[in-house]
Amino acid sequence: MRVLIVYAHLEPHSFNHALKEQAINVLQAARHEVRVSDLYAQSFNPVATWHDFERAAVIQPRQYGVMQREAYLHHHVAEDIIAEQEKLSWCDLVIFQFPLWWFSAPAILKGWFDRVLMAGYAYDKEKWFATGLLTSRRAILSVTTQSPKSAYDASNMHGDIKQILYPVHHTLRFVGIMPLSPFLAYGVMNMDTQERRQCLMDYQLHLSEQIEKK
Ligand SMILES: Cc1cc2nc3c(=O)[nH]c(=O)nc-3n(C[C@H](O)[C@H](O)[C@H](O)COP(=O)(O)O)c2cc1C
Repeated sequence: MRVLIVYAHLEPHSFNHALKEQAINVLQAARHEVRVSDLYAQSFNPVATWHDFERAAVIQPRQYGVMQREAYLHHHVAEDIIAEQEKLSWCDLVIFQFPLWWFSAPAILKGWFDRVLMAGYAYDKEKWFATGLLTSRRAILSVTTQSPKSAYDASNMHGDIKQILYPVHHTLRFVGIMPLSPFLAYGVMNMDTQERRQCLMDYQLHLSEQIEKK
């Protein structure tokens, strides 16, 4: 299987980095092909601007989604977006590795969705969900939190984690990518060495189980 890891963390000593490395090791040991989009290392620009389609014909009134489609269909898309689309098109499974920031994905990853999942490339008119343009791909969200698991129960402080992950999962479903069961590493900042080791082993098991389902 071909696996793309989209990794959104700035610190090489972080637990997110350890989870990303764990995924690479586990997947490669099982003879899967792995590529990584390391968004911070790439200095990926998450901000949508008109520079994303500099040579495209302008359709008035200018609207970002309409311009995405025009630029994609006429091959006028910025190089950094094309590079990400090429990796996403290549893969069968995409893993998103990120820390929960304000109950959402960090801005660098949100911007990846905004700029890479272009109209014309990822979806089009009447081509969404089952007929989305990225069908036959699956995804796993691997997310770390500071708050403990109990804080993400439906009746507790932050509410149900499923609702928090819903916007990303729904985005993926919209373009035809089926989300598999996410991996949640709760309370990572309070874990000791042994708990971190256990969490990495849990992730290994989770990945193996999810991939076998494919
Ligand atoms: C801007 C920002 C927002 C954050 N928002 C949340 C949050 O909504 N929920 C939560 O549990 N932790 C939150 N955190 C804590 C991070 O999730 C935590 O630092 C991260 O998961 C730790 O992973 P690391 O050790 O790989 O850096 C936030 C941290 C930052 C810097």
